[in-house]
Amino acid sequence: MKQLELLYDGSSKQLYATENPEQIIIRFKDDTTAFYNIKCAKIENKGKMNCAISSMILDYLASKGVKTHFVEQVDENSQLCRVVRHIPIEVIVRNVIAGSMAKRLGIEEGRVPNNKIYDLCLRSDELSDPLINDHHAVALGLATYEELGEMYAASERINTLLTDLYAKAGIRLVDFKIEFGRTASGELVLADELTPDTCRIWDMATGERMDKDRFRRDLGRVREAYEEVANRLKSALNK
Ligand code: TMP
Ligand code: ASP
Repeated sequence: MKQLELLYDGSSKQLYATENPEQIIIRFKDDTTAFYNIKCAKIENKGKMNCAISSMILDYLASKGVKTHFVEQVDENSQLCRVVRHIPIEVIVRNVIAGSMAKRLGIEEGRVPNNKIYDLCLRSDELSDPLINDHHAVALGLATYEELGEMYAASERINTLLTDLYAKAGIRLVDFKIEFGRTASGELVLADELTPDTCRIWDMATGERMDKDRFRRDLGRVREAYEEVANRLKSALNK
């Protein structure tokens, strides 16, 4: 599929038009940002690693019946995806308390909650993706209660599948963020990357962090951790 004009240049990905108006190319960059562009760096080969990781995971989810925007990986850095109307809500699923939830509520990172936690955030860099709830989302016209119900059900299924996949790779899925969109035919699909940039994953044996917290918290060996995730997922999926 031929890559045409650049439609959007984001902090870690670019979107390109294709000859098919219903498909776009998403190109993963080596650029990494945290804390809303306060911290920026290039991590060598991150684009390729994230493209490979996300493609493997989206393929795996699709094979289990999850509807996604992903069509195929087209080169080392790029994916062909369906065009969707993006719902500007981030769904965060938490199996273990960490990050902003631990900080906001004064809880030690690593505590396992009594239930699975689903947070909603409004997608807005200017406002630093503020936490919202279902009623806010409906009040702002971002989604209907019915759509939110569909998003929660899909998130629960994705969490079960991802937790299982990562466990096969000896990795504990702590939390992750996903976004959804609607296709031209009105189908709700997962429309996001699934990479160590957008989740927390800890080595089951050592507890070591294998995700973007290594960059956020200056823990070092960011590239090596992402490489290890890609290699372990490949083995877990027999690729
Ligand atoms: P948090 O602890 O900052 O709320 O983040 C929870 C998880 O969601 C963590 O794995 C990082 C991910 N996340 C993103 O990928 N993008 C975002 O904009 C936010 C707020 C969280
Ligand atoms: N949206 C946040 C940021 O870009 C999430 C993160 O820290 O990864 O800073």
